[in-house]
Amino acid sequence: MKKKSMLVAMALLLGWMGCRADEGMWIPMLLKKYNIEDMQKQGFKLTAEDVYSINQASLKDAVVGLGREGYPFSHFCTAEIISDEGLMVTNHHCAFDMIQSHSSLEHNYLRDGFWAKDKQDELANPGITASILVRMEDVTDRINAQLTPEMSAEERNAKIKQVAARLEAEAVKGTNLQANIKPYFNGNQYFMSVFKIYKDVRLVGAPPSAVGKFGGDTDNWVWPRHTGDFSVLRIYAGKDNEPANYSPDNQPYKPSTFFKISTKGLKEGDFTMVFGYPGTTKEYLTSYAVEQIQDIENPHKIAIRTAKLNIINAAMESDELLRIKYAAKAASVANSWKKWQGEIKGLKRFNTVEKKQQEEQAFRQWAAGKPAYAHLLDQYKSLYDKRKDLILAQAYLTEAGKQGAEIVMWSAKVYNTLGSKEFINNPEQIRERIKAAAKEFYKDYDPATDCKILVEMLKLYNENLPAAWIPAEVQAAIAKKGVEAYAASLFKNSVFASEEAFNAFIDKVDGKSCRKLEKDPAYYLYHSIDLFYADNIYPELSRIENEVKVLDKTWLAAQMEMHPDKHFYADANSTLRVAYGKVQGYVPCDAVYYKHFTTLAGIMEKDNPEIYDYDVPQRLREIYEKKDFGRYTQDGEVPVCFIATNHTTGGNSGSPVLNAEGHLIGINFDRAWDGVMSDIQYNPEICRNISVDIRYVLFIIDKLAGASHLIDEMVIVD
Ligand code: ARG
Ligand code: ASP
Repeated sequence: MKKKSMLVAMALLLGWMGCRADEGMWIPMLLKKYNIEDMQKQGFKLTAEDVYSINQASLKDAVVGLGREGYPFSHFCTAEIISDEGLMVTNHHCAFDMIQSHSSLEHNYLRDGFWAKDKQDELANPGITASILVRMEDVTDRINAQLTPEMSAEERNAKIKQVAARLEAEAVKGTNLQANIKPYFNGNQYFMSVFKIYKDVRLVGAPPSAVGKFGGDTDNWVWPRHTGDFSVLRIYAGKDNEPANYSPDNQPYKPSTFFKISTKGLKEGDFTMVFGYPGTTKEYLTSYAVEQIQDIENPHKIAIRTAKLNIINAAMESDELLRIKYAAKAASVANSWKKWQGEIKGLKRFNTVEKKQQEEQAFRQWAAGKPAYAHLLDQYKSLYDKRKDLILAQAYLTEAGKQGAEIVMWSAKVYNTLGSKEFINNPEQIRERIKAAAKEFYKDYDPATDCKILVEMLKLYNENLPAAWIPAEVQAAIAKKGVEAYAASLFKNSVFASEEAFNAFIDKVDGKSCRKLEKDPAYYLYHSIDLFYADNIYPELSRIENEVKVLDKTWLAAQMEMHPDKHFYADANSTLRVAYGKVQGYVPCDAVYYKHFTTLAGIMEKDNPEIYDYDVPQRLREIYEKKDFGRYTQDGEVPVCFIATNHTTGGNSGSPVLNAEGHLIGINFDRAWDGVMSDIQYNPEICRNISVDIRYVLFIIDKLAGASHLIDEMVIVD
C-alpha cells in the first residue's frame, strides 16, 4: 500500500515534470488564433476577447507599462490597476527609486515604509509614465511592401525606420495616443502598439524595506523566498480623465476596468497567467553566441561588479546615510551581477551549448543543398570569431570605464549638455536644468567611495585587457603616478568631485568657458575612453552586430521552415505579452523538493536582528505572536510567496498574476535561481517565476500599515 502510494506520488511528480511546455510569451492580439484553446484546456475560464479586445473593456486595459519620460516604450516594470480610482500595485523594487528619492534621514521611507493617509498625501514622481495599451496591429506587410531584394542591409534599415515613423504618425494623428512599432521574430514580423500614456503617477504606499526587500540581495533570485515585494501607486489624469502633466488639480484616473482580487487561495496545479511587459529574451541564439555569453561576457562583467559591490557594501555597512545614498545603486548593480552568475550555472548544468551544437548539426544536414541556408552557420562562426576580443574590450570600456566610477559618467553628461546648441540659445533654462540634475546626483553621491571604485576599475582594466585595448592617455597617466595616486589627483582636481565646487562652476559657466571642462581630469578620462571606443571598437563591433542581425532574421525563418509544426513565440521586446502555466514546486537537485509556497512562519524562521536583510519589523513579530492574521490565511498560515511555471523575464516585475477566472492572485517579481537561464533556454522542469501572494500584500496593508482605506477601494472576491 505504502509502496503503491509512493509510486503514484512519483508518477505525479514525473507527470508534473513531464515538460508540458509552459514556455513562451504570447502576443495578446493573437491569443484567439494560437493559444486560447490550449489555455482553456489548462483551466482558463475566460475567452480571448476577455483578455484582449478592441471593442469592449478587457483585462489589457488594467495592465500598465511603467516607463520614463523620453523612453515611455522601454517599460522598466509592469503594474496593474486594482480600483476604479486608478489605484495600482507593482513591486517594491520597481518603485524603489521613487521611494528612495522621497527619503531622507528625517523621513526614511526606505527603512520605515510610507503610507499616504489620504489622496492629498500621495507623492508625485515627475518623469514616471504609465502606458496603457489601446490596440495592436500587424504592420508586417505594410513595411515589407516598401522593401526590395536589391537593398543593402543599411538601406533596408533606413527604409524600415522611415516607414515605421510614418505609420506611427498616421495611426495616432489627431489623437492624444502614441504609437510604437517593434520588430518581432528577429525582424520577420512587425507589430504596432498604440498606447495612452499617463504622466502623473503618485506614490501611495510602500512597506518598510524589511518587508518589501526582506532577504535583500542575499535572497534575490532565490527560492524559497519571503519578500513582500510590492508597493502602491496611483495614476492621476486631467479633469477629462485624459493624460496630463502633474498638477495638484489632477484627478484619480477612472479606468475602463480593473482587476478584482481573489483571496480564494491556491494549490499546486492551479492555472496561472502573467500579463505584462517582458523586456528582452534571446531564445534563438546559436551555440557561438551562447558560448560568448557564458565564457566571456558574463564572467568579466561579474568580476567588474564584484569589485564595485565590495566597496559599496562596505560603505553602506559603515554609515546609515551612506546606506540610503547607495541603496538603489547597490540593488541595481547587484541584481544583474547575481543573475549573470545564475545564468552561467544553468547554461552549464543543462549543457545548452552542446544541445545547441547538436541542433545545429541537424540544421546543417537539413540545410545542405538549400542555397539560402547552407552557409548560415559558417557565416555565424566567422562573425563570432571576430567578435570575441571586441566584446571583451567593450565590457571593460563600458562597465569599468564609462560606467565605472560615477564621476566619469556624470562629467560627460554635464559636458554634453553645456556643449549643446540648446545651452547657447537658452543658457539660463539649461543652467537650471543642470542644477536640478546636480542636486539629485550629489544627494546620493559620496566622493570617497567613488574614488575607491575608480581605483579598482582601473586596476581591473589594466589586468584584464591587453595593452592595445587601453587608451594611451589612461596608460600614460597610470604609468606615471600609479593607479591610487592618479585617482586621488583626479578627485582633487576635478570640479565634479564636490557639490560646492560644481555649483560655483555652473553659476558662472557660459558657452565659451565650458570648453575648460575638456581639461577637467574626470572628463578627460571619459573622453579618452570614449574616443578610443569610437575609433577602435565601435565601428567594427557594430558592423559585426549588424551582420549578425541579418543572419538572425534568416536563422529564425529557417527554423520555422524546418519545424513547420512547432509553435514559435517571439522573443521578449518590452511589449505586452501573456505567459501561462501553473502553480508548481520543483526539484532543484537530487532528493530535494521545493514546495510551491512560503508562509509568515518562514519569515520568523529567518528573523535575525543582527543581519540587516533578515531583521523583521518589531510590529510584524507582534502580529505574528498574537496571530492577528484576519482573513488573509490558508490552512491557518499567512501565505507570503508562491512559484509557478510562467515564462517571465526582467520587465515582468510587477506583472499581475491571474487565476483561471482572471482575478489577481499575486504580483510577479522574480525567478528561482536554478532556472535563471530562462532568457536563453527555458526548461519547464526547473524554471519558475516567483510572485508575492496577494493575500500577503493585503495583510501587510491592513495589519502592518493600518491602511485599510486602501483595501476598501479594492474589490475582493473569493
Ligand atoms: N531579481 C529581481 C529582478 O530582476 C528583483 C530585483 C530587486 N531586488 C534586489 N534585491 N536587488 O528585478
Ligand atoms: N525581477 C525581474 C524584474 O524586475 C523579473 C525577472 O527577471 O524575472 O522585472
